[in-house]
Amino acid sequence: MLDKINRIKEDASRFKAATQDELEEFRLKYLSKKGQLNALFDEFKTVAGEQKRELGQKLNELKNLLAETFEHYREALDSETETVRDNDLTRPGESIPMGSRHPISITRNEICDIFTRLGFTIAEGPEIEDDWHVFSALNFPKEHPARDMQDTFFITKNPDVVLRTHTSSVQVRIMETTQPPIRMIMPGRVFRNEAISARAHCIFHQVEGLYVAENVSFADLKQTLLFFTKEMFGEKSRIRLRPSFFPFTEPSAEMDVSCTCEGKGCNLCKGTGWLEIMGCGMVDPNVLDNCGIDSRKYSGFAFGMGIERIAFLKFQIKDIRMYFENDVRFLEQFAAAGF
Ligand code: PHE
Repeated sequence: MLDKINRIKEDASRFKAATQDELEEFRLKYLSKKGQLNALFDEFKTVAGEQKRELGQKLNELKNLLAETFEHYREALDSETETVRDNDLTRPGESIPMGSRHPISITRNEICDIFTRLGFTIAEGPEIEDDWHVFSALNFPKEHPARDMQDTFFITKNPDVVLRTHTSSVQVRIMETTQPPIRMIMPGRVFRNEAISARAHCIFHQVEGLYVAENVSFADLKQTLLFFTKEMFGEKSRIRLRPSFFPFTEPSAEMDVSCTCEGKGCNLCKGTGWLEIMGCGMVDPNVLDNCGIDSRKYSGFAFGMGIERIAFLKFQIKDIRMYFENDVRFLEQFAAAGF
């Protein structure tokens, strides 16, 4: 039996496998159920007591050698097949799924693009703000009920620290640090403490705009917004301005855009033929003065719109919550929309 063990040992140490087939042959010959190793173990059961110790040890050594040899070549051959596969230039490529832009980003980029072509530049500011930039500088008197129009989130015990309810705060920051002419738009995320429904969310996005220079008039505002509307919704679109109120503009207006149903009546415009899309007005002289701009020399207009709402119209989306769920089935529909 010792002879047999030694012979196999010698064979195994000389063994080399160049292919999977050779290795399989090795496995069958020595390591399989009916292989030589098992046969030796069977034979070992009949060995007399005094030889058991020495033979047992040898047999175990052989078993380890065979297993190691097999493992060694199995690994080597496996990595070789992998390399061959990796180098196969005819192998079909694996397709990588392309992401798509979020409808809010698409719409924001398009709005920014239109105003950039009119010479507006883009400004951004902090989402966590102080009372001055969100309210006081914008002519909201302390305790004034107009503050209730925007349900504010306070994030500390300090009532001076708020999440901005509109990006008008960025207009204040710009006017405080820049003298006219100013022609800028402010895209950004805003926060209002509102119950979440199909039409409202506590987080949404705005693009606001500001133009301050000498002799800026309401006609400039109207023409700018008309240009924007035609670029955004098509040449046929019309606009309508209705009187409104904002503490920071005087006069103030709400702008409607004509509905694609042409007034025939549809769900979107509820039969009125008009859709409200933004607030606007002439910057209140108090606001200019609050920010260090001489209101006797300069005038300006401002406007602000919700991106979610514009995207509703652009993509016929009916529920604002879809923007925030990030369901891939919803998002991938915008892959072709560009921007
Ligand atoms: N800041 C206003 C809002 O968030 C929008 C607005 C901006 C209105 C500028 C008029 C002028 O509701």
